[in-house]
Amino acid sequence: MTAIKFGVCGIGRIGVQHCRFFSRTPESYELVALCDLDSERVSAMTSEFGGKGYSDFAAFLADPEMELAIIATPSLDHARNAAQALAAGKTVLLEKPIGVTAEDYELLVQLSKDYPDKLYFCHNHRFEPAFMNTLAIIDEGLLGNIQVVKLCKHHPFMRRNDWQMRLDCGGGQLSVWGPHLLDQGLQLLGAPVRDVWSYLRGILTPGDGDDHVKITLVGENDVAAELEISNSVALAGPYCTIYGDRGTLSYEQDQKNIHLKYLAPQFRWPEAAADAGIPVSGKPLSAEQELSWIEETRKVEPDTNMWSQVEIEIAKHLHNALRNNIPFPVKSSDALEVFRVTEIVKKQNPQFNWIG
Ligand SMILES: NC(=O)c1ccc[n+]([C@@H]2O[C@H](COP(=O)([O-])OP(=O)(O)OC[C@H]3O[C@@H](n4cnc5c(N)ncnc54)[C@H](O)[C@@H]3O)[C@@H](O)[C@H]2O)c1
Repeated sequence: MTAIKFGVCGIGRIGVQHCRFFSRTPESYELVALCDLDSERVSAMTSEFGGKGYSDFAAFLADPEMELAIIATPSLDHARNAAQALAAGKTVLLEKPIGVTAEDYELLVQLSKDYPDKLYFCHNHRFEPAFMNTLAIIDEGLLGNIQVVKLCKHHPFMRRNDWQMRLDCGGGQLSVWGPHLLDQGLQLLGAPVRDVWSYLRGILTPGDGDDHVKITLVGENDVAAELEISNSVALAGPYCTIYGDRGTLSYEQDQKNIHLKYLAPQFRWPEAAADAGIPVSGKPLSAEQELSWIEETRKVEPDTNMWSQVEIEIAKHLHNALRNNIPFPVKSSDALEVFRVTEIVKKQNPQFNWIG
């Protein structure tokens, strides 16, 4: 089986990671082309990783060797760059946010229809080990029926001053971490979204973008996903908390250990009814009956660097999709739903000067 000859356009912070991690398995991937407006960066990266260097996107796309183009340019260019690469006959892995404007959304809906087996979306944080472990624990049934999921990405007092904090560059936390949290939240919700409520603020950011995001999604199954991204928390809270009707799961921002407290599988609630004649001073039922709790802490597996693991996983899944016909876990409809919800959130927060 031939390795996938790939190129990366936009070799900034994440583009370099794609070069590094996709090149780690030479039997699966071979880096043949690199493109960036910054030609010094191109020279430095071709020396490190090999491949031909380009500073012009059209020339990069005309590279006859390249099968897969990874688009890691600034966010405002994503949808347009994907359209250009697909038109040039390339398979595309498109970074998040997959687009920024309503026009981008329409374009990507169309491209997904026109190129169903060629356009893939880089929602790599779907593959965070703690998140994957959490899905498996939910499948075990220990927590019972899931009622509420809370995901909080806290960056304690992180005051960024790069383009990602400017709305005219497609920045703001709704676009930076929003796609990751929305993707995870939608997976945990487990049903189509019925309601969206949101509240965004700029608190510590030196830019005009949002640095505090609060979104609540309610699914058609009545499950709520409460999502929070904040650069304005000094004491970070847990990353993930899930309430089921038989137990709770929680893990911290370091995502190293999953804490569980749940009712023993054999435990059953006795029949009960609220009685108008019982005074409040009586003991609650749960105090009268011995609850058979099980508490455990599970180490997140694999015990590895999360940032590296999400890259390794997305490379593996994309290879499986392109060479082994195994469906890519991030469906186009998943990524488009993240984008659709993002557009609703923007409309609910007109205090920001959203682009487009
Ligand atoms: N999936 C993830 O985990 C993840 C992580 C970080 C960034 N991202 C996304 O990747 C994108 C890039 O982010 P970054 O942090 O690497 O930014 P960055 O500023 O570090 O890098 C962007 C690079 O693109 C280059 N560039 C700009 N315009 C170009 C053009 N027209 N043609 C070629 N190169 C061009 C710049 O010179 C720069 O090197 C953003 O949209 C961001 O949201 C995703």
